[in-house]
Amino acid sequence: MSSKETEQRVSKISDGTVIDHIRAGYALAVLKILGVTKESTKIVTMAMNVPSAKTGRKDVVKVEGRVLKRAELNKISLITPESTVNIIQDYEVKKKVEVSLPKRIEGTVSCINPNCITNAGEPILPGFDVASREPLRLRCTYCGKFIEEREILDQF
Ligand code: CTP
Ligand code: ZN
Repeated sequence: MSSKETEQRVSKISDGTVIDHIRAGYALAVLKILGVTKESTKIVTMAMNVPSAKTGRKDVVKVEGRVLKRAELNKISLITPESTVNIIQDYEVKKKVEVSLPKRIEGTVSCINPNCITNAGEPILPGFDVASREPLRLRCTYCGKFIEEREILDQF
């Protein structure tokens, strides 16, 4: 199957957001980040493991009638930093945002160490350095605790 067939597989949308070039297998994580559940009423389409010129295989998620919040973008950039977020208006790509994994993560993830200063009720925003990109592994700047991708996704 070619990239052209991938295009035809999932229809173009009129208004909303297309999250493209999602790391293969991570569309379900993206749906979780977007809060898509059986209660959702917006139209959502997704494709998994479709051919991509850049990476071989990719996932794609399209949400109609909404733009993403900053917090959702931050989470997506952690879990699948190769993604491209396209804002669609009147069938046109109005804006393309290349997300990327920041060197330091602030506020998006909480430390899992109950004794960490960031969990002590002090006004300190949790902060992490990236220990590994793939699979994602973060290290708390304050207590040194490592937090794994699975544990990060559990928070989303
Ligand atoms: N798209 C869509 N509905 C539209 C326009 C675009 O669902 N009305 C989707 C396309 O299918 C594609 C993504 O939005 O998955 C980005 O569109 P476009 O920029 O036209 O594609 P490319 O040039 O292939 O993007 P990139 O360079 O980011 O790979
Ligand atoms: Zn900590």
